[in-house]
Order: sequence, then C-alpha cells, then structure tokens
Amino acid sequence: MCGIVGYVGSSHAKEKVIDGLRRLEYRGYDSAGIAMPIQGRIQITKAVGELKNLEAKVSDPEFDAAVAIGHTRWATHGKPTEVNAHPHGNMDNSIAIVHNGIIENYQELREWLAVEYGIVFKSETDSEVIAHLIGLYYDGDLLAAVNKAVADMRGAYAVAVMAADEPDKIIAVRKDAPLVVGAGNGFNMIASDVPALLKYTRDVYFIENNETVELTKDSVVIYDEKGSTVDREIKSVEWKADAADKADYDHFMLKEIHEQPSVIRETLLNRLNPDDSIKLDDISMTKEDIENFNKIYIVACGTAYHAGLVGKMVIEKMAKIPVEIDVASEFRYRDTFIDDRTLFIAISQSGETLDTLAALRDAKDRGARILSVVNAVGSSIARESHDVFYTLAGPEVAVASTKAYTTQLICMYLIGLYMGSTKGTIDKEYYDFMLSELKSLPAKVERILQDEEKIKALAERYHFNEHVFFIGRGLDSGVSYEGSLKLKEISYIHSFAIAAGELKHGTIALMDKDTLVIALATQDKLYEKMVSNIVEVQARGAHIIGLAKEGKTEIEKTSDEVIYIPKCADEVAPVLAVIPLQIYAYYVALEKGCNIDKPKNLAKSVTVE
Ligand code: G6P
Repeated sequence: MCGIVGYVGSSHAKEKVIDGLRRLEYRGYDSAGIAMPIQGRIQITKAVGELKNLEAKVSDPEFDAAVAIGHTRWATHGKPTEVNAHPHGNMDNSIAIVHNGIIENYQELREWLAVEYGIVFKSETDSEVIAHLIGLYYDGDLLAAVNKAVADMRGAYAVAVMAADEPDKIIAVRKDAPLVVGAGNGFNMIASDVPALLKYTRDVYFIENNETVELTKDSVVIYDEKGSTVDREIKSVEWKADAADKADYDHFMLKEIHEQPSVIRETLLNRLNPDDSIKLDDISMTKEDIENFNKIYIVACGTAYHAGLVGKMVIEKMAKIPVEIDVASEFRYRDTFIDDRTLFIAISQSGETLDTLAALRDAKDRGARILSVVNAVGSSIARESHDVFYTLAGPEVAVASTKAYTTQLICMYLIGLYMGSTKGTIDKEYYDFMLSELKSLPAKVERILQDEEKIKALAERYHFNEHVFFIGRGLDSGVSYEGSLKLKEISYIHSFAIAAGELKHGTIALMDKDTLVIALATQDKLYEKMVSNIVEVQARGAHIIGLAKEGKTEIEKTSDEVIYIPKCADEVAPVLAVIPLQIYAYYVALEKGCNIDKPKNLAKSVTVE
C-alpha cells in the first residue's frame, strides 16, 4: 500500500522523487519521507500527513542531491507518526531504506539485533529492521549487504536502499510487492507503480520476485536470486503522462467518471476484429480448453468483486458453465473444488491486491487455468496468470473505483460471448445483437453524463439520511452492491445493498420515514416484481429514488424521484445503471465536504492481507 520512488541522476533528485510520490498518492498514505546523500551523510526528512508537509520541510533549493529515495506510508505496524515514517536509517544513518510490504519475522530480528548487537530501535515499524540488518552486513559493498539481509527476511517486500559511502547508487529488491524501474537518458528511477515514472520516462523494466536491481545514473543491472545477471526486455508503457493528472476536474473521481465513454470504447474495440469477431490472439485458450472447463471461479476484492457478480450471471447465461464467485479473502481459506477442468478468473484493477494474488497462486498450484482481468500492465497478477485480459482504463487514481469497474464489466461480456460462441451455446443472432448493444454503450454513457446536474440536484436533496439501502433483482442486485460501496466509501454514510426479494426476510424491519432506498429496476423481466418491492418499502415510509430504463414510467407512481437510463438490453444495463450511482455518491460526498479522492481509512491498492 505504501509508495516507493527512487531517482539516480546528476542533480535535482528531490523534485523527481516528490513528484513521483504525488503520483502514487492514490495508493493511500498517512506520512511521507525522503532520504538524500548530502556532503557525505544521508539526510532523512519525514512529515506526517499530506505530501505538502514534507515538501515544506525540504523546500530549500540548496537542500538537494543527485540521488534520492522517497516513501509514502500507510501505517500497518505502528501509528502514523514521524518516527514511524520512512525512510528508516541504521544507527548512524549510513544506510537508509524505504519499504513497502511486511516483514513477518521482524519481532525475532529486532530481538536478535538488540540483544546481540545492542541496536536501539527508533520506531515501532517492522521495516526498521531492514536498515539495521543491511548496516550490520555492510562492508563497502551495498549489493552484497542487501543480499545478505534479504536472506534473513521473511515476508513481502519491495525495498530501495542507499548507502552514504556509495552515494551514486540505489539497490532495490522485490518479493511479493510491486517494483518497476524507469530507464532514462542519464538517469534511472525505481518505483512501486508506473504512474510515478511517466513524467520522466515511458521505458520500464518490470522487476520479478526475488530479483535485486542495482541502479546508477547510467546503468540498470538486474540480478536473480542466485546473483546471476538477468537480461530483461525493456517495455514501453503507453499510458499518457496526463492520464494521471486531474485536468480541469476538481477530483480524480469525477474525471474518471467522465472518462468512461472513451475507456469503455477502447476496451471493447481493442478486442474486436473488423468482422466483429472477438480478438483474443494473445490469449492461449483454445476451443478444446473452453469445452473442457466444467466450472469457473471468479475471485476478486471490493469493486472488482462487484464486477464479478455481474460477470457470473453473464458468463453462466452465455457460456452455460457454472460460475462461482467469492471474495479473495474467503476463497483462500475454504475447501474449493479446483482441478485441471477449472477456469479461475481473477479481477483486479491494480493487479497487486494480495488476497487476490494469493488465491490465484493457490488455484494455479492446484491445476486451474488462470485468466486475469487486470488494468495495471505488468502487475503481479497479470504476470502470474496464464492469460491476461487487460481493461484499457488507464491509470485510476481516485480510491473509489469507477472506470475500472465499467471496463471490467466489458471484459466480462466479451469473455462470456467468446466462450458462448466458441462452445455454440449462443447463436449468431444473439451474438450480433449483444455486440451492437455493447457498441452503443459509450454514447449511452455519454447521455447519462449529460444528466449530471439532475443527479447532483438529487444529491443536494438527499444527503441527510443516516441509512441508505440499495435494492435490485438479477443483474441489478450486483450493481446495487457497487452503488452502496461507492456511497459508503466516499461519503461515510451507512449504506447497505440487498437483493430486493430478500428484503422481507429481515431487512424490511429497518424501513421507516428516515430511510432512503435506491431501487434499481432496469431488468425488464423483473420490473413488475421490483415495483412490488418498492411498494413494500414505500408502505413503511421510506423515501425512494427509482432507477429504470426510459419508457418504463410505472415506477414513478411509487418513487419520490426517478433516474432514467437509455433503453438497452437487460444484459448490458449494469454498465449504464452504475453511472448515476457513481455521480450520486460523488455529489453526496461533495455536499458533506469529504476528501473524495482519498477517503479516510482506505487505500487504492491493498498489498497486505
Ligand atoms: C481496495 C480499493 C477498492 C478496490 C479493491 C480491489 O479496497 O479501495 O477500490 O476495488 O481494493 O482492488 P483491485 O486493485 O484488486 O481491483
């Protein structure tokens, strides 16, 4: 969850590292710090809170160097204080490190270092042991000292290290935490994620597990676990640098909501041949493979899990294969029926969510075929999958996921259609109809975005309720979960989603005049049943915002307000239905003065269990 940035060049390292850290802000953080070798000593500066607090402390232009490592921390071991913030130094600060991940045996190492070597620890963090271990082993060769220290460490880590006696280099090492190198002309960089590098370079090396990398301004040398050099291909990243900027929007979330027509279009068109057949040439799944699958597990966390809820129903309908869906943290610890006839689909925006990654590894070990739906190119989940279906959403910065979700849905439709048409479980007429429906989505999303003011007005009227319920049936129930998550994560209002038919088995007891119910009724064959559910909650005094397709006006009789989405096939309605819910959540949070892009207690990328 923490962010790491390092720069080795000829000058002005501070600005580059702080700029990189700013681009990693979306990962969530509570403190930040930077280390630079200046006049033979490593200067470590840290600050609690926003990055600007750190910037203020290092604003003197004289206080700069050619090399720097920086960090944004999200507290796991120890409170978010200055002392606990990274970089951490050894006793005399001749070594400084930044770390993302967890050192599982840190207690043991701390005790050993304290008892055997009299080392006094300054912080409560697990990370500080790394600096002391490297300090202990250092005898003029930083690379050797890092390798020795790594042999003592158990856990997950991406670590960047500098030594006062070798001020022209950074050594970094990775195990189960993301790390990329950005290669430049006369400089090189290291970071936990690509957006940190984009302003300076598009050329990246993805560092693999158990690899160590040595960076100077003119060289990047990657070593494997045994110490042999690795010949890694350089990859050019296509994300535009301004893709991680806010442009004219007040928040990344709003910008990302508005990017949905174009990213949906890109994700879809990238996978279509001129004759409208689905192009999966980079995916090695054959007709025999598809016919061999007898079950599918979709596993994900958060919003990606909600995309999976829709994916399950769509794939079952189209490919006629039973699909189970689970949150990764549960899936990992239950007895699942995985074998070589299982297709395991992992969905993840970041491609780094630890629970999803661990579930994937377990399924892979047990013989499942792994297909991942991922946004971050070259991320761990992408690399460890047999096949990857990339969502072309570009960098998503706001913690609350929007455009990643809708592009994940597009991938679910394409997977369902591809499997269904390959197996012969859908006919050509249905396939063509679905494709024309999918192609019409960008324009329809655009139309909903034109209603932004109306939805904003609703948010101004309805943002006082302490409890908000989202209800729906069929695919709408999946979207209800996502609408509810959006609202609670950015506005801190208690919200709850439930399949509408389940209301009468308990939850309806909570309905009264103070309750707001957002009722999704986009599914034609379930429309009347939904209207009856709305009547039930209305009878208990609840206020209702209905959501239906244009022309389905019956709902007006039983709702206080109605939001309409353009007419579409039921299957693709989730892509449209979620848009007003995203906008509503955004404006409610704005009304309440919340920190929309960085909600309290949340992080964009959760790389701890
Ligand atoms: C965090 C984020 C969510 C996200 C979830 C899964 O909780 O705050 O927005 O949906 O992780 O992340 P992933 O990167 O795997 O999609």
